Amino acid sequence: MNEDSVSAIQRKKDHIELCLTDNVNFKDKGNGFDHYDFKHYAITEVKKDKIDFTTTFLKKKINYPFLISCMTGGTTEAENINAQLAEVANEINIPMGVGSQRQALGNKDYNDSYKVIRRKAPTIPILGNIGASQIIKMNNFDLVQGIVDLIEADALVVHLNASQELVQLNGEPDFSGLLKKLEKLVKKINVPIIAKEVGAGISKEPAAKLLATGIKGIDVAGAGGTSWSGVEILRSKGTVDNLFWDWGLPTSYCIKEVFKLKKDHKFILIGSGGINNPFDAAKAFALGADIIASAKLILQVLDKNGEVGIRDLIISWFEIIRNIMFLTGSDKINKLRNKIILKEKLF
Ligand SMILES: Cc1cc2nc3c(=O)[nH]c(=O)nc-3n(C[C@H](O)[C@H](O)[C@H](O)COP(=O)(O)O)c2cc1C
Repeated sequence: MNEDSVSAIQRKKDHIELCLTDNVNFKDKGNGFDHYDFKHYAITEVKKDKIDFTTTFLKKKINYPFLISCMTGGTTEAENINAQLAEVANEINIPMGVGSQRQALGNKDYNDSYKVIRRKAPTIPILGNIGASQIIKMNNFDLVQGIVDLIEADALVVHLNASQELVQLNGEPDFSGLLKKLEKLVKKINVPIIAKEVGAGISKEPAAKLLATGIKGIDVAGAGGTSWSGVEILRSKGTVDNLFWDWGLPTSYCIKEVFKLKKDHKFILIGSGGINNPFDAAKAFALGADIIASAKLILQVLDKNGEVGIRDLIISWFEIIRNIMFLTGSDKINKLRNKIILKEKLF
């Protein structure tokens, strides 16, 4: 194993550890959902027990519009985490993302840490994952198709992590040529491509440019939850500038803006970035998300309460969302749209 692989493995371990032990949330910036309140609907006729959350995602039926966001792979610890996440995702029939598969590009050492997901969850939608900084260096995409095949992925996520690369020691803050590469990637890979941030958000203009490449989904992964520049600042032990800890556009803003593109484009809008409670989740649907996703919270719940903890958390969230739907007169999840109002307009 070369020095690069050793440091990449250590980095993955640090990520998990820091997300479990340190406060890596945004410091002074929220996801923006607290600026909204629900529009109570006094004459609701919704039969709350009739609300059905099943939907289709990447051509597969899922029980809840909730995605376990891309987190890990490429280490022995990751195999254990992915196995547990896949088991619970399979049990409640929800989709799951794998962490960056950079390590598996042409290297079989930790293939099991990714393959375990499909083994434990044979039928759910699974999302592969690779960084934009890897894609732009490639002349052909055979290795990328390889990582898709490895987990029989239903889609491939390309993560855009400019602020993380910027502050990361030995990061690669160079995305030149990205859109052209994405256009080629879309044509070569046999599953849909989804573009995703990692916590700094995707707004309307970049989303429109990304959609023009032919990608089929946007995961806004906005600011207000886990700060990935924060994680890298901690990893650097104070040797890099921490002015960028809170860099990024809040999740609620990104969903609201990117949703406007639905008028002209057909794509999946994933709402994520600091969605850590069912009220924020419902507000994400209200602003236009088709499906929501969480990362760090899921990892922390797994660590504390195991697979049962994750199952109970997701089911209880959707029971609360059911109540919110009753009180706002929304009999389907997409009827939640616009059922929120900026608090400042209430007074
Ligand atoms: C431990 C951990 C590792 C992560 N690794 C990846 C990754 O490899 N690829 C990726 O696209 N996102 C990765 N993320 C980012 C998440 O998918 C997500 O976009 C981000 O953490 C914001 O969501 P949150 O506030 O719910 O944590 C990781 C998140 C966590 C917590």
